[in-house]
Amino acid sequence: MNVIFSKYADYYDALYKDKNYNKETQYIEKLINKFAGKKLDILELGCGSGSHAFKLQKKGHKIVAIDRSKKMINLAKKKDEYNKIQFLTRDLTKYVSKKKFDVIILLFHVINFLDSNKDLKMLAKNSNKNLKKNGIIIFDFINFDGVILDKPKKKIKIVNQKKIKIIRETEPKLIKDKSILNIHFKMTIKNKNKIIDRFKETHKLKLHSILNIKKIFTPNFDLLNIFKWMKFQKFIKNHWFGLIVMKKN
Ligand SMILES: C[S@@+](CC[C@H](N)C(=O)[O-])C[C@H]1O[C@@H](n2cnc3c(N)ncnc32)[C@H](O)[C@@H]1O
Repeated sequence: MNVIFSKYADYYDALYKDKNYNKETQYIEKLINKFAGKKLDILELGCGSGSHAFKLQKKGHKIVAIDRSKKMINLAKKKDEYNKIQFLTRDLTKYVSKKKFDVIILLFHVINFLDSNKDLKMLAKNSNKNLKKNGIIIFDFINFDGVILDKPKKKIKIVNQKKIKIIRETEPKLIKDKSILNIHFKMTIKNKNKIIDRFKETHKLKLHSILNIKKIFTPNFDLLNIFKWMKFQKFIKNHWFGLIVMKKN
């Protein structure tokens, strides 16, 4: 099995230090307030190192956050100074909680890591179980049509962290009728100019179509809205990133 977010986890926060988690959390908080309310019970699926969870907790929400990667959960736990968030190592497709939540969130393409309809169906079914009456689910997604219109390109990112230089070469490849986006990462870690680590990791992302997501979720959920990611404007076909809000039925 291709273990992901294991070695990569060591460099996750450094690689994404310029990702605007503050602004993203403000956006998610606005959506939560609009569609559900304030100071709620939130379940975050695929929480990674917890960057959204900590900020949402500060807004007064009670958070349970899960991730399949033990390393990511350990990173999150280390940052949790006040021990107010329950971080758990779990597979989100199988997770059924005793506690019920007002809101479930999945952020930063977590939905695209589910590469089969079977997993997507499990998520829909278990989310329905994990939510209170009228509970909502919010998730962003990478949109198949947007990617086809504007294909991803090779790129390189270099991050300096004290004496360490992290070099990430990214090669995206569309396969299987272009519905799978394999992102091949080649990582080189240098201390001064000496290579101290080198590894490869591939993230397999399934580009679900909106139609497919709707079809899989509608037995358990009513669609409330689809927005362009980080906006309140209507999502259109050629956008790369979208955000879905659904209500438990
Ligand atoms: C791109 S990261 C996003 C992490 C975090 N949400 C953020 O915004 O930084 C995707 C995360 O989804 C997690 N993930 C993928 N599939 C999962 C599954 N089946 N169950 C739980 N976590 C999963 C990965 O371990 C990884 O931490």
